[in-house]
This record gives sequence, C-alpha cells and structure tokens, in this order.
Amino acid sequence: MGDRAQDNRLRRRAFRPALTVPFLAALCALASGLGLAQAGRSAPPELAGEAVRSTKAAFRRPADTPFPGTNPFSPEKEALGKALFFDPRLSRSGSVSCATCHNPSLGWTDGLPRAVGFGMEILPRRTPQVRNLAWAAAFQWDGRADSLEMQARMPITAPAEMNMTMDLVIARLKAAPGYAPLFRAAFAGDDPLNAGNLLAALATYERTLVSPRAPFDRWIEGDEAAIGPDAKQGFALFIGKAGCSACHSGWRFTDDSFHDIGLAVTEDVGRGAFAPPSVTAMQHAFKTPSLRELRMQGPYMHDGQLPDLDAVLEHYARGGEKRPSLSFEMKPLELAADERRALVAFLQTLKAEPVPVALPHLP
Ligand code: HEC
Ligand code: HEC
Repeated sequence: MGDRAQDNRLRRRAFRPALTVPFLAALCALASGLGLAQAGRSAPPELAGEAVRSTKAAFRRPADTPFPGTNPFSPEKEALGKALFFDPRLSRSGSVSCATCHNPSLGWTDGLPRAVGFGMEILPRRTPQVRNLAWAAAFQWDGRADSLEMQARMPITAPAEMNMTMDLVIARLKAAPGYAPLFRAAFAGDDPLNAGNLLAALATYERTLVSPRAPFDRWIEGDEAAIGPDAKQGFALFIGKAGCSACHSGWRFTDDSFHDIGLAVTEDVGRGAFAPPSVTAMQHAFKTPSLRELRMQGPYMHDGQLPDLDAVLEHYARGGEKRPSLSFEMKPLELAADERRALVAFLQTLKAEPVPVALPHLP
C-alpha cells in the first residue's frame, strides 16, 4: 500500500463524513450567497435556495442519541452510571472521581491548562469535555480507545490518574451495600456487579451527556434572528475562505479524525504513536476537538499550548509549522481583524445557556 493510501486509511479509520461534490457546491453557494467568501465585509442577505438548505442540513443536530446494540440504553443503567461517574471510590486515594476532572460546572472539564492526576502530578494533556460522545468514533486525543466502554477503564487503571485495579474497584463497590441492588436493576445475571457492567454503565451515562441547544442550532433550524450578522459572517468564513470545516465538520464540529495542524513540537506525537513511522501524516496528529461549548478563556489544544483565541486564529492565519506531517488542509490565510472578530462571534453562538446537573445520591 502506498504511503498516501495508508495515510488516508489511518486518517479515516474513524468515521469521516464524505465531502461529496454536491455538498462542496452547496458550501460554495452558501459562502458566495452570503457575499462573504472573498470580501468578508458586506452584511449577509438572508439565506435561501436548495444549496443553502442542504448546507445547513449538514450542521443540523440529530433528533435522537444512538446507543450501541451491544450496550443498549436503560434508565437504570444511566442512574448507575451517573453514581459511578461521581463516585470517588473509583480512585485509589478515594478522593478523585471522573467528575473531579470532568466537572459539569466547568463545562465537563477542569478549567486547567493540563490535567492534574494522582499525587498532584501535572499530566501531559488537557482534559477534554465529555459531551456528544455517543456519536464519536474514536476517543482520547490520540484515538487509542475505540469505544466509551474501552475508554472508561483507562483513567481508572492509569497509575497517573485514578491508579486503581478493576478488582479493587469491584471489591470496594461490593463493600458499599447500596451498589449491588443498582447493578441488579441495570443488568441481568447472577453476579452483575462486575467490571464489564461497571464500564457499560459509565459509557451509557456518558452517552446521555449532550450539549444543549445553542443559538446556532436555532438559526440552522430557521430562526434568522437567533444569531447576529457578525456570527453569520463568521460561519461563512468558517465553511468558506478560512477552511475550518474541512476538519471541524458536521453538527459536532469534528470529523473524529486526526491531523497535524503544525503546532510547536513536543515529545507527544499523538496518533503517531499508533502508526508506523512511514505514515507521515499521523505524526503530531491529534483528534479534531469539537468546537461546541468552547471555553472562551482558553488555553487551547491538546496540551494547552495556545493561551487564547487570538493566538489560535493567528496560528491558523500563519498556517502552522511546515513539516512533512502537516495536514494539506493547513495553508497560510489572510484574516483581517474584522474577520477574526466574526469567527469568534460565530464560535460564541455554539454555546448554550448552562443546564444545571443534579448530583446523584451515592450508595
Ligand atoms: C485526573 C483527571 C481525569 C480523571 C480523574 C478522569 N479523566 Fe477522563 N480525561 C482526562 C484527560 C487528561 C483526558 C485526555 C487523555 C488523553 O487523550 O490521553 C481524558 C479523556 C477522557 C475521555 C475521551 C474524550 C474524547 O473526546 O476523546 C473520556 C470519554 C473520559 N476522559 C471519561 C472519563 C471517565 C469515565 C472517567 C472516570 C472513570 C475519567 N474520564 C476520569 C482527565 C481525567
Ligand atoms: C486540518 C484540520 C483542521 C483545520 C483546517 C482547522 N482545525 Fe481547528 N483543530 C484541528 C485539530 C486537529 C485541533 C487540535 C490540535 C491539537 O491539539 O494538537 C484543532 C483545534 C482547534 C481549536 C482549539 C479547541 C480546543 O478545545 O482546544 C480551535 C478553537 C479551532 N481548532 C478552531 C479552528 C478554526 C477557527 C479553524 C479555521 C480557521 C480551524 N480550527 C481549522 C483541526 C483543524
């Protein structure tokens, strides 16, 4: 297999919606319909026409959340998974739960440049938010987990995170009288309080975490007044001249794929650790993060290396450091000050009013 072909296979091992010719035509029509693809200044006319409708459809939220046939939804499983997500018994120290790092009041992350793990060690990567993952095809910044069930074991057993063994977690939960009935309600079998079911319950709860409807969603569904003209200009740039939607595609604003966007090199080669060195494009490649509910205060990227949105847009304007693995979608780009403001105004429309999360009663 040629290097390029293999690059593509690895890149697309995770689902990536195909950019069909009609879809691209629709994008161009939308961008030029707004009169902004080239000029980036005039006030946008209202969107209309079949091409525009199909473009907007590509960003429309789905009606239902998918659950895999191997781990179907039930309210009992969700309730158990929620208790487990918030329970510090899952960590050796007894003081760290999943929600310590994925804190709902901090947008399901920790507000830190990089995560803090066992013994207050600073971890190499930033804590991602855990919403809209029911639709995701690869997990972790380097995609080393194929499912939420597989992912959930990693932080529990990682010495630098919760530093547990699955046996010890199960022994602790068996010692807490409230858990056995919750496992029996959620799962069949004689002895359902086991590691596989614990991971299945955590994954089920995580699949229920979906970002609330944002102003952008109301606009996509037809309410022209839901977002301002600056944000509409920003969206036209995003899908047009600035080329952002080549990777931040669909309603989750991610292609679930891996790219080297030319950030400063560190020891962390991301997806490259799982690809043969000959597969150039995977070196320094990280999973495209969703842009929904982007925290506006930064810092950004897998290791928090860019402090704010100005730095992010400056990075994209420069096009990233030239090296063999740099994505071919990354090219230097002229972005005027008003275009940068428009892009930020658009990103803000992907944020919804926060919905309070009731903490579970722990068994
Ligand atoms: C010490 C902080 C910390 C704790 C505790 C923690 N996480 Fe994470 N989580 C992270 C970091 C950091 C990453 C990124 C790891 C990487 O890419 O290597 C991550 C990644 C994830 C992801 C992948 C998200 C994506 O977009 O790919 C999921 C899902 C997740 N964690 C769920 C959990 C669950 C479930 C628990 C509890 C069993 C948990 N986490 C405990 C810090 C933490
Ligand atoms: C070649 C694919 C690609 C293109 C094109 C692209 N991005 Fe990204 N974007 C990524 C990847 C991959 C990351 C994460 C990189 C990392 O952490 O190493 C990212 C990170 C980001 C982040 C930081 C998110 C966070 O949570 O830290 C923002 C904001 C962002 N991109 C916005 C944009 C905008 C705006 C554009 C258009 C000007 C754009 N991106 C174009 C792939 C892309």
